[in-house]
Parts: sequence; C-alpha cells; structure tokens
Amino acid sequence: MRQVYVLNGPNLGRLGTREPDVYGAETFADLAALCRDAGRELGLSVDVRQTDDEAELIGWLHEAADGKIPVVLNPAAFTHYSYAVRDAIAMRTAPLVEVHISNPAAREEFRHTSVVAAVATGTIAGFGLHSYVLALQAIASLEVAGA
Ligand code: DQA
Repeated sequence: MRQVYVLNGPNLGRLGTREPDVYGAETFADLAALCRDAGRELGLSVDVRQTDDEAELIGWLHEAADGKIPVVLNPAAFTHYSYAVRDAIAMRTAPLVEVHISNPAAREEFRHTSVVAAVATGTIAGFGLHSYVLALQAIASLEVAGA
C-alpha cells in the first residue's frame, strides 16, 4: 500500500480541549483514526504524527522528501511565519497538501498569510476534520493520475 504522512504542527495534539468553538470537540486520537480509516478506503497506508517542535517537523519533511512520500500537512501556526518549514516543503519530491481545520481567511488578519501555500501542491481549509479526508482523496487521485 502507498504510504502517506499526515503531519501536524503545534497545539494540534490538544484537539478536543483547544478552542472547541473553532476546532471542534474531537480529539487528536479521533483525527488520527479518521485519517487511517479514510486512507484504508483509498488504498493508502497513513502515518499520522504531531509535534510542537519546528525542528522535528522539518526532519519529517526531509524524511518524506528522501522517501518520495506524499504528505498531508497542517503546519498550524507555522503556516503564518515559518520560512524554515516553507523551505523544507520546497524540497518535496511528491505531492503535499496543506490543510486547515478552520478557514484562516475568515479569521484574524495574521492568519490570512500562508508562507507555505506557494510551495504546496494545493490547500484545503475550513471543512473541520473533513479537510484531512479531502486532502487524502486529493493525494489518492494524484497517485492514480501518476502525478
Ligand atoms: C490551523 C489554523 C492556524 O491559523 C492555527 O494556528 C492552527 C490551526 C487550522 O487547522 O485551522 O494551529 O492550522
């Protein structure tokens, strides 16, 4: 089965208790199960990870680049300011979909800028945890297309 990484940045491990009015009541464990189940149906073996550490996230992006592994990435707050994460994504050797649970464009001004969007294959935002399912579907269809 084709391997896919689902990588999550800072504070996403707190889903369920973190601003539930914005991010919902489901936990990170629920998100991981959702991604693995969606992946199974799409013929993808999904490895879900979360870190609050920029260096660790960059290490995982290097791993994905070395292994030509597609990535679904929620960079969380790194989205808005991390040129280091952006540069790591720019080295990608397979599709990478940027995802957000909320719709950053409808929130505070500082969330309107994504420094990573231009180096991602595409972005899906605003559909709650379903954003991840849509991103996995996008990866699966790119795989079929041989992209
Ligand atoms: C987020 C949106 C970001 O602005 C925020 O910093 C996050 C989560 C989202 O999934 O909606 O941590 O990436």
